[in-house]
Amino acid sequence: MKMKTEKLTVFAPATIANLSCGFDVLGLALDGIGDILHLELTPEPGVSITRVTGADIPLETDRNVAGIAGMAFLEAATGYSGGVRIEIEKRIAPGSGIGSSAASSAGTVWGLNQLLGEPFGLPDLGGFAMKGEALASGAAHADNVAPALYGGITLVRSSHPLDIARVHCPEALHACILHPQIELKTSDARKVLRTSIPLSKGIRQWGNVGGLVTGLFTEDFGLISRSLEDCIIEPVRSLLIPGFDTLREAALAAGALGFGISGSGPSVYALTHGADTAEAVSRALGKAYDAIDIPYTLHHGPVNRRGIYSINPNT
Ligand code: HSE
Repeated sequence: MKMKTEKLTVFAPATIANLSCGFDVLGLALDGIGDILHLELTPEPGVSITRVTGADIPLETDRNVAGIAGMAFLEAATGYSGGVRIEIEKRIAPGSGIGSSAASSAGTVWGLNQLLGEPFGLPDLGGFAMKGEALASGAAHADNVAPALYGGITLVRSSHPLDIARVHCPEALHACILHPQIELKTSDARKVLRTSIPLSKGIRQWGNVGGLVTGLFTEDFGLISRSLEDCIIEPVRSLLIPGFDTLREAALAAGALGFGISGSGPSVYALTHGADTAEAVSRALGKAYDAIDIPYTLHHGPVNRRGIYSINPNT
């Protein structure tokens, strides 16, 4: 196996999974928010996580999503007998709903792949990273790891076997996030879901998934807006997010194309046509939440189009 270098620092973006109608299948990568991982190859086999800053998460390899994803990579990398040491700067709060575990899992396997001369393609890396997701949420889904790895917007057509398609993302599309400072574990937010749905809701939901993907490819913002609807998951999960309906009204009144839960929450997101509307929607979301006694953080910006990338360790 050809090693390019022994050390690498990577930026792995936060992501919005589901995009309302596409539960467990659609996802979008955010520009400007992400975890930073420092990786160094070691002669000793295995993954050792030596430091985590920014969040209180376990260092033990088998209790850390990056550790599990890294082990899945190393087990498959039969031409390499060493291991990797990782330091993680968590800049995405765990349990925030913007793909915190996926960023660390995907960042680890992407970084390892670079260090070892790219023995694997992105679909393989998605499979390794999904193993980390299984620890975080109790279910191996790829709707966060896919956009983190590929950038832009992705569709997970199938998880087993993993089949990821890139979806066209119009240049003007911007995203807003409001993160209420409460923790909602994905595993808990999945437990509240019903396991069967009436056919009529299925029809409505897959009409919206098709509409959203078509709207993105044709840059039809009216169709995108009409399709950003979730009649299955959101009615249940939105009850766990204080002020959800108020936030939706504020986002839509300020010109958002659509509004919904980011991943499994508690963060909420809005998509907009253009940066100015994103700024206005973000302001409106903050103003609406000021009336609710829960601290929050806001983010708005364009879509990340390149996925994970290497950075200078001092940035
Ligand atoms: N699709 C997942 C969910 C994303 O909504 O549970 C969260 O990781």
